[in-house]
Amino acid sequence: MTTCGCAHHTPPRVLENVTVVANDRVAQGVGLVTFDSPRIARDIQPGQFVHLRIAQGVDYLLRRPFSIYRAHAGRLEILYQVVGRGTRDLALATPGTEMDMVGPLGCGWRIADSTTHALLVSGGLGAAPLGMLAEELAERGIAVTVAMGAPCGERLVGRDLFERVARRVEIATDDGSCGTAGFVTGVCGEMVAEGGYDAVYTCGPEPMQRIVAAQAAEAEVACQVSLERLMACGIGVCLSCVVETKCGLRRACVDGPVFYAKEVVWDSAHDVTCER
Ligand SMILES: Cc1cc2nc3c(=O)[nH]c(=O)nc-3n(C[C@H](O)[C@H](O)[C@H](O)COP(=O)(O)OP(=O)(O)OC[C@H]3O[C@@H](n4cnc5c(N)ncnc54)[C@H](O)[C@@H]3O)c2cc1C
Ligand code: FES
Repeated sequence: MTTCGCAHHTPPRVLENVTVVANDRVAQGVGLVTFDSPRIARDIQPGQFVHLRIAQGVDYLLRRPFSIYRAHAGRLEILYQVVGRGTRDLALATPGTEMDMVGPLGCGWRIADSTTHALLVSGGLGAAPLGMLAEELAERGIAVTVAMGAPCGERLVGRDLFERVARRVEIATDDGSCGTAGFVTGVCGEMVAEGGYDAVYTCGPEPMQRIVAAQAAEAEVACQVSLERLMACGIGVCLSCVVETKCGLRRACVDGPVFYAKEVVWDSAHDVTCER
């Protein structure tokens, strides 16, 4: 069945004042910030995101969307890559800094009751929405295997968490400085072909996700992808975040960011029946 949207219950969103508890560099150009955020941390589900107001002023009229890497004990962890003004300011935030965030937002990863062994495929900062998922799968007794890639070993993120919860972690780096030399899609293609998985979850650059989706389709394994779009409102109003699906245009902020790969229009070669 295809719905191209959010078919499961999502918790109501709230506006919460949050406080930075820790903020550390964890890889080249990447930080991990921990917020005290009891309300959102309690309700957020793997694959959902928050909309963060990093500071006040005209540069921050629009909040920035971030996935939740981990949520535990009233705290939220966000992995962030420094790319512009907002993330530069986020990197400078010291413990005690107050911000506000809206969340939980969007539709996260679906975990079918029948899942026994999941393959998670992460490219670069694609680890951000996969950390919480890996922990949730492991807690439910579902076997987790991870394929993770990055340009070089210094830019690998999430390895500690994945190695803690997964039964197997395979690494690929473009320059060969860690794990197999080459793109993670090479490693993933071999793993999917080996068989044994009943779910594939992926996040990373969109061309990578598209290849992983094709590999999973070839092996007839259900695949979910997390798609990033520019998001102005984050609540389904502005239409800045549309994704083309087999059922028409969908808003990544409310119908996604997680979609079934077979529902996304990667090219015109697919054909599924849409029900909505
Ligand atoms: C659902 C979702 C989850 C995300 N999760 C994470 C995460 O966990 N960690 C992380 O580091 N980043 C994440 N992003 C991307 C993050 O929102 C942007 O990198 C951030 O807003 C950039 O803010 P800035 O002020 O530093 O950059 P700006 O100065 O605003 O922009 C700098 C660059 O970032 C790009 N950018 C700006 N906003 C977005 C956006 N919404 N999506 C993609 N690119 C953008 C711009 O096109 C520009 O190239 C996510 C985006 C979405 C939509
Ligand atoms: S960000 Fe406004 S509709 Fe999605």
